[in-house]
Amino acid sequence: MHAAAPDPPYLHGYSAAEQARLVEQAEYWREALILPDLPYRPGERLLDVGCGCGAVLGIIAAAHPGLAVAGIDREPRQIEAAARHLASLGVTGADLRVGDARALPWPDGAFDHAYLMWFVEHVPAIEPILAEARRVLRPGGTITVNETEYESYQVWPENPDWDHLEAAMFRHFQAHGQPHAGRRLGPLLVRAGFREVTNGLVGVHFFTAPGDDRLERHARYTADYLAPALGELAALGFDERRLRAGLDHLLGLHRHPDGAFTQTVYRARGRA
Ligand SMILES: C[S@@+](CC[C@H](N)C(=O)[O-])C[C@H]1O[C@@H](n2cnc3c(N)ncnc32)[C@H](O)[C@@H]1O
Repeated sequence: MHAAAPDPPYLHGYSAAEQARLVEQAEYWREALILPDLPYRPGERLLDVGCGCGAVLGIIAAAHPGLAVAGIDREPRQIEAAARHLASLGVTGADLRVGDARALPWPDGAFDHAYLMWFVEHVPAIEPILAEARRVLRPGGTITVNETEYESYQVWPENPDWDHLEAAMFRHFQAHGQPHAGRRLGPLLVRAGFREVTNGLVGVHFFTAPGDDRLERHARYTADYLAPALGELAALGFDERRLRAGLDHLLGLHRHPDGAFTQTVYRARGRA
């Protein structure tokens, strides 16, 4: 019998700078992606699976006073940071635990809602995660899963160095998790036993226009998670000079009169 292969290390790491990036990232996506149409009521119980340092959980808790929130992450440093972050927002009583999302330490039906964001892209297999989320939801409870698609990034003007960087980013995610997680969510939720499953697109498309800084902001946001990974991408066999040139192209798009950037994110919902 062979022992199971260990999970690959978490791709973004656990530095304080990365935790701050997650908080900024959640602020960035608050209205477009995190909060729309959440059917959460005071007194209900919400679990954030793969909660990291509580960035998304903080946004949800602050917008839904009276919601009883819980979160789990396998990394103790993330849970310690989540406790500090939620306290700084005045969120009290959060049930934050260190543990594996494939074996949740709560009984069947313990929650009314589950939320997973930027999480299943980082796991070796998505199915066991969704099965456990469904187990801890009461019948009729909801699940929301937000994920991007790492082959959806498009720049204009086109640029071969950007293509090199995007290919490297995709390969990196492939080695650590699920770069196509977003587009796969619908059937995965159906097979996990969820009902009323939807998977909708949240498209982002920004272009150079007077008085509009959204292209520059989105490029900076994207560069904030690509730049720290350049060394690892080069170690995968990609040309570091071209990776840097691709990043410069991204960051200069807003100065180009025809500059534009497109990205597709998926927002899936279902009911236990
Ligand atoms: C992008 S981060 C967190 C995103 C988070 N939802 C947010 O609000 O920003 C992904 C997290 O998944 C965690 N993780 C990866 N595999 C896990 C597992 N099997 N069980 C629990 N947490 C896991 C990592 O430790 C990391 O903190």
